[in-house]
Amino acid sequence: MKIALITGTSSGFGLLTALELAKKGYRVIATMRDPEKRHRLLELAEKSAADRIEVWRMDVTKEEEIDGARKKLEDAYGKLDVLINNAGYATGGFFSEIEVSEWEKQFQTNFFGTVRVTRAFLPLIRKNGGGKIINISSVSGFFGFPGLGPYTASKHALEGFSESLRLELAPENIWVSLVEPAAYATDIWEKGLKNFSPENRPKFQQRLIKMAMKAGKTGSDPTEVARLIGKICDEEKPGLRYPVGKGARSLYRWKALLPWRLVERAVLKKLDG
Ligand SMILES: NC(=O)c1ccc[n+]([C@@H]2O[C@H](COP(=O)([O-])OP(=O)(O)OC[C@H]3O[C@@H](n4cnc5c(N)ncnc54)[C@H](OP(=O)(O)O)[C@@H]3O)[C@@H](O)[C@H]2O)c1
Repeated sequence: MKIALITGTSSGFGLLTALELAKKGYRVIATMRDPEKRHRLLELAEKSAADRIEVWRMDVTKEEEIDGARKKLEDAYGKLDVLINNAGYATGGFFSEIEVSEWEKQFQTNFFGTVRVTRAFLPLIRKNGGGKIINISSVSGFFGFPGLGPYTASKHALEGFSESLRLELAPENIWVSLVEPAAYATDIWEKGLKNFSPENRPKFQQRLIKMAMKAGKTGSDPTEVARLIGKICDEEKPGLRYPVGKGARSLYRWKALLPWRLVERAVLKKLDG
């Protein structure tokens, strides 16, 4: 039986990926920092899938909880096939308004959380003789959106780390991949933008905040991302990058192929209305 461990499964991509992998026959270790929130996941799971899902407590910023989950997994199954580092949030705000402590918190979850969890569970993937590590990045992992500085920086760090780790682990048949979603309708927008008010600001900032709020409301169906993650799990040697969602691939190509000045002109023109 294949074992998959996912972080941040109380909502959004994490929850939907837990359902997707359970449907595919995986034993899913659905971790969340507050297992009281498990009902949303378990109520959506069909009976046969629910039997394959175990909800465990794990906050990715808490070393002792990660270690506890690792020991429990080692005792119960002795190996891990797939690790999905999904837990994350987005700090919305303009540079001068965000305290350094907020930057640190953002990195503690989105970047160091992934580093901590990967360090803890890698030995169990090695025991399996190979496997997959899927890191949920974002289009913000390769493009610096204004008003999302800490989030963008944390996802860029995640991308560099993942590239490096992929090359280190490929000879051991362990494949590190990045999923890079555009805007999807999950709770992340409401959580990250709730204190980011467009009132009493210069026009440029107002427009930007309204665009971000709209992106959350008109975001695509997140099951698309869960299905993609399911497909990556099926691949023997998955690739490094999977941009997904409206505009993700074209943004990736623009950034890679066009001179920065042209990209910048197009973005500033759009933001200028
Ligand atoms: N939705 C999008 O448009 C989008 C686009 C690109 C990338 N992403 C990425 O996708 C991933 C999932 O986000 P989502 O959109 O599905 O948002 P979401 O619905 O808000 O889910 C985020 C999950 O992460 C959990 N989490 C946050 N901090 C945690 C911590 N310290 N330890 C453990 N779990 C923690 C949350 O738990 P709580 O319920 O306890 O807060 C929640 O389960 C994130 O990495 C995000 O950056 C999302």
